[in-house]
Amino acid sequence: MTSPKRILVTSALPYANGPLHLGHIAGAYLPADIYVRYQRLKGRDVLYIGGSDEHGVPITVTADNEKITPQAVVDRYHAMNKRSFERLGISFDQYSRTSLPVHHRMAQEFFTALHDRNDLIVRTSEQFYSAKSGRFLPDRYVEGECPHCHYDRARGDQCDKCGKWLEPAELIRPKSKIDGTAPELRKTDHWYLPMGRFSEEWRRWFDSKSWKDNVRNYSLGWYKEGLGDRPITRDLHWGVPVPLPDAKGKVLYVWFDAPIGYISATREWAERTGDPDGWKRYWRDPETKLVHFIGKDNVVFHAILFPMMLMRVGGYVLPDAIPANEYLTIEGRKISTSQNYAIWVDDYLDAFPPDPLRYTIAANAPETKDTDFSWKQLQSRNNDELADILGNFLNRTFTFIHRYEGGQVPAAGVLDGRDRAMLEELKSAPAVLGDLFERYEVRAATKALMDLCRSANKYFNDQAPWSTRKSDPGKCATTLNVCVQIAAGLRTLMAPILPFSAEGLAAQLNLPGNPAWDAAGEPCVAAGHRLGEAKILFGKIEDSDIAPQIEKLNRMAAGTAPSASPPAAEKGPGRVTFEHFKTVDIRTAKVLSAERVPKSDKLLRLQLDLGGTGRQIVAGVAQSYTPEQITGKTILIVANLEPATIRGVESEGMLLAVKTGNGHVLVTTDGEAPPGVRAE
Ligand code: MF3
Ligand code: ZN
Repeated sequence: MTSPKRILVTSALPYANGPLHLGHIAGAYLPADIYVRYQRLKGRDVLYIGGSDEHGVPITVTADNEKITPQAVVDRYHAMNKRSFERLGISFDQYSRTSLPVHHRMAQEFFTALHDRNDLIVRTSEQFYSAKSGRFLPDRYVEGECPHCHYDRARGDQCDKCGKWLEPAELIRPKSKIDGTAPELRKTDHWYLPMGRFSEEWRRWFDSKSWKDNVRNYSLGWYKEGLGDRPITRDLHWGVPVPLPDAKGKVLYVWFDAPIGYISATREWAERTGDPDGWKRYWRDPETKLVHFIGKDNVVFHAILFPMMLMRVGGYVLPDAIPANEYLTIEGRKISTSQNYAIWVDDYLDAFPPDPLRYTIAANAPETKDTDFSWKQLQSRNNDELADILGNFLNRTFTFIHRYEGGQVPAAGVLDGRDRAMLEELKSAPAVLGDLFERYEVRAATKALMDLCRSANKYFNDQAPWSTRKSDPGKCATTLNVCVQIAAGLRTLMAPILPFSAEGLAAQLNLPGNPAWDAAGEPCVAAGHRLGEAKILFGKIEDSDIAPQIEKLNRMAAGTAPSASPPAAEKGPGRVTFEHFKTVDIRTAKVLSAERVPKSDKLLRLQLDLGGTGRQIVAGVAQSYTPEQITGKTILIVANLEPATIRGVESEGMLLAVKTGNGHVLVTTDGEAPPGVRAE
């Protein structure tokens, strides 16, 4: 296999309208991360791009339901999802978001380029409109019966059951999701991409590549049905505005703008790393290999729509591979966020370390068919494989050397056949695993890794150093030396799948620094090398650890579990990213006057000086401070909190105080500070 000059890897941008669950991870993120980590170890020029998909009707629907702005929805879930990915070790080089100006500009440039070359058509069509709410109801704002498969909850743009693209007017018995009314049809103009016009050009490109079966089958299925004219704009106020003077109130269709997000994110990365043009290397040099990791529901967009857009705009690389995955089910049931049946990534990580999950999903990745995740399986993969095979081998080796060799790697003597066979197996492992990673066969690679561990564990058994220690010390030393060489190789070979444990192992080996994949098969630890402290790398997962998780799923299945969204609420704040923190505007404020709120013994109404502007807030500190005591103090407030009405009194902000055993203590500044200054 000739190696590409550079590799650009993307994972589908998850909608920032809910937390991540294991289905997301198995589909588009873990396989991509494993691939990227492997390529980095190979020393390749690889860039891994991701981010939040922050437009589209799912987000405005959430905002409507929660009565907050779409921006507040995406701010919340962007910060949350970014953090979940970090906790799980998904190692994006850039985790961007499509609400950024750089993205809006980029998506508009794409639209304009297509528009200017007459690759778009305008058409008047009938769209649903709610007279009651005075707005258009695109896509998911309307549900009705699918004209093809008669699923009763098809949406205005697509049927989730049979996957067909729909025109709103085709829906049977449509109903507005926001006000329940039967919507009327109104004429409106939209821009369409005439995909049929470009379908032969697309087909020639598509046929020139080799695709995974599911990608080929879905794509050709669509092609054969005829790629018609597809509307790429919507009547909505949330999204990328259509960059034309006569397009007020219209935005780009989310599936038009979102994939362009991969490019904008690369631009954001380039700017951040001080090389503003660097993104062009990845997107415009034909020697880049572009790989899109996605779930199967995203195939048409990545295999047809986006490549067609790139082709028509011109000058961009097209995907070389789309390792689309099938679905992960949980304990035999389909994951459904709307029916609150899922395992949330943060819930998992609050209870267990990341690597057992990575390993379990990798070993059972839904590459060619749907696969099932169960807590029992996590437990047995962890206990029987990670702990009892890999962990056991490492622990036996290290504790032996610490106990009998003072922690120093003994020198190898003459190798016997068994030693040589073991070292041969190690030697071939980088190529064996590497080929599988190159082919996106994570399951097989995971199995090959564990097979190597199994051999190593058996080697230790067969060579029985505990008995040769007395009968044949030279042989014992050789065995231990070989075991350490294998451990050092494993540290590299396991790193794509088990990055956290690989780091722990590096510390036990006392081998800091970046290993190289191709060297992982060669003995590299010198005799006399001093090992680090030995530790258990994989703890056991007990029945009692998974029982509450199984119980929770059962409650979910029975519909009696609290909805997990937003899951952080029940558990205290957890961590936030700096980016998210910056959205909280904490300022100094001077209390100008204070009075008790009538009929409340807890509340004070405060008039504040915010550095030239006034502000009224209501604070629950009346049991600890009298109006006289608080007046004149410089306090800290959250200035951009949503306004609220408390006991009929408007409050625009919240003061910071600490609750102690006997009431509240105000948070104030240590030293003079003028009012209205932002804390940082
Ligand atoms: N947000 C989409 C989903 O969750 C995926 C978008 S992928 C992109 O299904 F290419 F459009 F970004
Ligand atoms: Zn259908």
